[in-house]
Amino acid sequence: MTEQTTSAEQAEPTAEQQHFEHLISEDSRVEPRDWMPEAYRKSLTRQVSQHAHSEIIGMQPEANWITRAPSLKRKAVLMAKVQDEAGHGLYLYSAAETLGTPRSVLNEQLLSGKAKYSSIFNYPARTWADMGAIGWLVDGAAICNQVPLCRASYGPYGRAMVRICKEESFHQRQGWEILYELSHGTEAQKQMAQDAVNRFYGPALQMFGPPDADSPNSQQSMQWNIKRFSNDELRQRFVDMIVPQAEALGLTLPDPDLKWNEARGHYDYGQLDWNEFMSVIKGSGPCNVQRMKRRREAHANGAWVREAAEAYAQRQARQAAEAEAATSSPEAGVEIDETTVVAGRGSAELIGARA
Ligand SMILES: [Fe+2]
Ligand SMILES: [Fe+2]
Repeated sequence: MTEQTTSAEQAEPTAEQQHFEHLISEDSRVEPRDWMPEAYRKSLTRQVSQHAHSEIIGMQPEANWITRAPSLKRKAVLMAKVQDEAGHGLYLYSAAETLGTPRSVLNEQLLSGKAKYSSIFNYPARTWADMGAIGWLVDGAAICNQVPLCRASYGPYGRAMVRICKEESFHQRQGWEILYELSHGTEAQKQMAQDAVNRFYGPALQMFGPPDADSPNSQQSMQWNIKRFSNDELRQRFVDMIVPQAEALGLTLPDPDLKWNEARGHYDYGQLDWNEFMSVIKGSGPCNVQRMKRRREAHANGAWVREAAEAYAQRQARQAAEAEAATSSPEAGVEIDETTVVAGRGSAELIGARA
């Protein structure tokens, strides 16, 4: 093959590449069975797994308050919410796995500190009112970010987001309701609610990521129809949403520059502390060390569950293989050895990862 032929072939997109481009231009879904550029697969694997890690680490600040919830009803609601977050993590790890990276690898990336998770979960939950502020602001920001992701071009991610967003709406509502009750309670309760909002407002706005000018990957992500709106557009949408909600709560937002801009038809808001954001992302937030330590402990404590699940899966596979052999050739007396079982499981995993 000559060099000229090679470059001519490279210039002409393959049928698979054309199919991918067609799916994107039609605003259709890319499924695990479809060919996709390696950069698309890599970018999505990073985004979906970071999202999964955030759901799992995000259980910690609220789980700390389950035993201290002020009533049985509050305890039950908070437990349900924390369990929802675990479920979100599981949907998202499954979606990430369809891109070809096993969950054990994704998990290792989190435990080793190689993978990031949302910076917001590195802040402490100091009072019961923080359960309200987290629900209202953190889950509220998550909804703004995630509703457009329901239309993400990658099918398993978009479909996971549909279910997750429904649950996030409930989370935001329960947070709002906690704050409403506190802000209409005693003066001390109202102050506790205001203090929680003061602490979570800035970090919640930072959940949308750095300003557009400092977010170089966003544009590619938008061209692939993964992201639909820029970080700043989503942040603006969130600010516009929470200002009237704060008024309804009888609380203020801690930003002296926050005011309605008639010309823009949006609220203007002040500069956020991006140095603090970068420092938290890099591991120096108030709770980074504590969150990772707790996650590693939980993973180690769960080793027996993984071992039991693995032993059960092996037994099931062996029994299925024996039953299959008995039905297909009863006279042959096929001997099922460990190699057959392992090969069978390997194939099943591959199908699971690509189908
Ligand atoms: Fe969630
Ligand atoms: Fe949530």
